[in-house]
Amino acid sequence: MTPLDWLALVHPVLMILFVYPVVGATIRLGILVRERRLGIHPLPPTVGEEHTAHGRWLTSAVVLLVLIALAVVLLGAPGGLGLLVAAPRRLGGLLLLVAVAMGGVLALWRPQRSSARALLALLAWGALLILVAQPEVRQLGSNPFGGLGWGSHALSGVLLCGLLLFSMAAAPDTLRWPRMRRLHQLAGLVTGLLLAVQAITGARDLLALPLRR
Ligand code: HEM
Ligand code: HEM
Repeated sequence: MTPLDWLALVHPVLMILFVYPVVGATIRLGILVRERRLGIHPLPPTVGEEHTAHGRWLTSAVVLLVLIALAVVLLGAPGGLGLLVAAPRRLGGLLLLVAVAMGGVLALWRPQRSSARALLALLAWGALLILVAQPEVRQLGSNPFGGLGWGSHALSGVLLCGLLLFSMAAAPDTLRWPRMRRLHQLAGLVTGLLLAVQAITGARDLLALPLRR
């Protein structure tokens, strides 16, 4: 195992150990929020706060682990770190994108106006989109409407990040506006499906790694 192999383990291991258990708790708490609102069970108002807190941790952890996976892909490409260091402007640009993605999601932890939250989420997602579009990242057919696009761990992963960032940015409005609540329910459903897709394509990519090396 090289140091890069150990770093490559961080993404799948922490997804399994941290992210997916938090996903389970977030979905359960979301269902409780709904049951409380509809008066199905007498539940404390804290279920909403708990669900939002879990959602924040989930979104931040997914963005961080995606950045680590992308760093591994870039460092593991032919030429690796040497090629990146030889092109300092590109390296600087990539590091700036990493800072914008992580900084954007962390800034969403603080109370902000709706417009500022939307801008932060868009900036963070835009930075992730540019990082995933780097030539070193395997997109398995870059057209999401083509057959292979749906099998791409990278494309569905970045879409999932966008949905989580949307839920995090829209959280205060989800509490206030029924229309935003319905949009959040739809986003939550697609997020759940994409999390299952990521588990399948991620496990497939782990199996295929030795074949590609
Ligand atoms: C797996 C992802 C998620 C699912 C499946 C999900 C699901 C739900 C559901 C079912 C509700 C109840 C809606 C209703 O009242 O009918 C809800 C409410 C809510 N969700 Fe999520 N959610 C997810 C992620 C997130 C994230 C990432 C955040 C923000 C960080 C978030 C923030 C909220 C807020 C603020 C509410 C309203 C809480 C309240 O009324 O007290 N959710 N969610
Ligand atoms: C929230 C769920 C997940 C998201 C958003 C996500 C996203 C990503 C992204 C964007 C990449 C870099 C692009 C690529 O190489 O495809 C990546 C790489 C990778 N992911 Fe995930 N992932 C998730 C869950 C998982 C899980 C559960 C596993 C394993 C069980 C996994 C295994 C991998 C592996 C092995 C790679 C490197 C593949 C390679 O070198 O080509 N991922 N992931």
